[in-house]
Amino acid sequence: MEKVFYVTTPIYYVNDKPHIGHAYCTVLADVLRRYYDLFGYKTYFLTGVDEHGQKVQEAARKRGLSPQAHCDEMQGYFRALWKKLNISNDDFIRTTEQRHIEVVQKALLSLWEKGEIYMGEYEGFYSPRVEKFFSAEELVDGKCPESGGEVFRLSEKNYFFRMSKYRDALVEYIKTHEDFIVPEQRKNEVLGFLQKGLQDLCITRPKSRLEWGIEIPFDKDYVTYVWFDALMNYVSAIGLYKDQARFEELWGGAHHLIGKDILVTHSVYWTTMLMALGLPLPKQIVATGWWLVEQTKMSKSLGNVVDPLSLLDKYGVDSIRYFLMREMVIGMDANFSEAQVLRRHNYDLANDLGNLVQRVIRLLEKAFDGKVPEGDAEEGSELRKQAEVLPQQVEALVKNLRLDMALEQVFSVIRATNRYIAETSPFLVMKTDKRRAGDIVRAALEAIRFALNLLWPVMPEKCDWLLKAIGDTSHVERLSDLKWGGLKTGRDVHLDTPPFQKFDAPVDISEKAEKPEEPKKIDDVKKSFVPFSEFAKLELKVGTIVDAQRVEGAKKLLRLLVDIGEPSPRQLVAGIAEFYEPQNLVGKQVVVVANLEPKKVMGVESKGMILAASDENGLALITPSRETKNGAKVS
Ligand code: MSP
Repeated sequence: MEKVFYVTTPIYYVNDKPHIGHAYCTVLADVLRRYYDLFGYKTYFLTGVDEHGQKVQEAARKRGLSPQAHCDEMQGYFRALWKKLNISNDDFIRTTEQRHIEVVQKALLSLWEKGEIYMGEYEGFYSPRVEKFFSAEELVDGKCPESGGEVFRLSEKNYFFRMSKYRDALVEYIKTHEDFIVPEQRKNEVLGFLQKGLQDLCITRPKSRLEWGIEIPFDKDYVTYVWFDALMNYVSAIGLYKDQARFEELWGGAHHLIGKDILVTHSVYWTTMLMALGLPLPKQIVATGWWLVEQTKMSKSLGNVVDPLSLLDKYGVDSIRYFLMREMVIGMDANFSEAQVLRRHNYDLANDLGNLVQRVIRLLEKAFDGKVPEGDAEEGSELRKQAEVLPQQVEALVKNLRLDMALEQVFSVIRATNRYIAETSPFLVMKTDKRRAGDIVRAALEAIRFALNLLWPVMPEKCDWLLKAIGDTSHVERLSDLKWGGLKTGRDVHLDTPPFQKFDAPVDISEKAEKPEEPKKIDDVKKSFVPFSEFAKLELKVGTIVDAQRVEGAKKLLRLLVDIGEPSPRQLVAGIAEFYEPQNLVGKQVVVVANLEPKKVMGVESKGMILAASDENGLALITPSRETKNGAKVS
């Protein structure tokens, strides 16, 4: 049977226009579907909008529109943005569509008939902002515990789903399916939530209070709770109750991408609803972190909401897609800043990738009539080795949801190709040995072709364009088709414009003002013998750098977050800023002294130290010779 990857995004509320956080999740789904296409899976990609409920009804009322007219207009903003972002979704579901309404009503009826739904009296506090009920104990200072917004005391008759009876089965399922909820920290959060016990779920709203929803098939005075309605989109869109074969095929490979704020609704409400409906659970729930601005949540009232459209116009769609995938470590929050978008664009894309392609093509145009030279299979054997393992490395990292690290691997091949050109100097060799110069450039072209194919899911437009520029026709359909030597000799290579236009970086005044300091000499370190028992006190561990930022006002310092297998990454400050660009460090494995006494450096707390070697060429970080588990002991 064909392997299936069915990926979903949350369906977005249409109370407002989409921002960068929404764009992130949809780009992530798109990138994953494109990678899984390359891995040989049958893929299907669903996104859409969540149109019912109080929030949307309220937004429409404020605009003086009917809810339907409001939704019809707002969904257009999402579709338009997805088009601009080159999103390849197969379907776009709206919860006001008849095909969805029918499935929700059928599911409700089936639960009602099975006795999974009963009428009860609800007493509690209702938070319109998150559309949820809370008990008095759950409130924080009398306000909604999730949004901090106003709550209203309510007592009304409603229908309830017997969610509580599935608690034990759900706990068991989560514990026995290791990769069901990822990352692990989110899984633990759900288990913690379930440990406190589970109540039944109120799944209706009386029409007297809220009209904008799907009518309950067995009581026309009520509409369906917006979350019950919305969650059903994942199955209504793929043919539940209509096309059983199609439904079963796709549902078996379902992966839900969600933000951390909607973890409970997906991991608890949705899973127990499926259990009650007698349907299998999805394969995986992936909870991502948030995009923050200056470490703060984006919000309209703070005026810090990032509109993706302005960035797309300036940097181009693929630079933004690349930035979003490169900067976010799935599961953790990431900080959004235009300065960082600009750095990624200038350093990784314009410098490392763009200049490389340009240099190689320039040489071919100058000396080889702008054609792919024949090349010798022996030339560039080291580079070839590195390129040929790239597909497996990327596949493993993507399946492990480490897109940031997968991109780092692709760029390590790009940088290796740059080094190879610098070391072999084909421009000079050209003067004495044209054939060899051709061999060198051909090897570089092959390596670039590997990198572009593996970068294609993230930057489809640019990569297809650059693949054509280096004489290929397009990207491969399957990674297994990617072979060294696959370029056709004699094909035209050509580039009209630089692949990426560079932008001026903002000047960092604090760095300019600081006087350069002499690097410490190695001889300054006093040598003496240390008894083994003393050495053994040191706890050395392997860790992966998950974030790196400059420390403001300090030329030499970087603030690193290193995952050493603990529940949250360690923050430490390292004096390596003169030798490493922060963006090149993320994803790198290092050795950490884990039990060093914490101290503050330039006001930033440092809990440990990373090991580096130093010589006259500067510093070199110590890295394990193969990828090693985070937290592995160094002995
Ligand atoms: N309509 C519900 C989802 C129903 S799915 C059956 C909803 N909609 S939402 O529009 O409020 O949020 C959609 C997604 O966007 C959520 O996964 C949320 O985490 C994500 N994001 C909203 N702001 C975000 C950031 N700042 N950063 C990253 N993602 C964030 O919830």
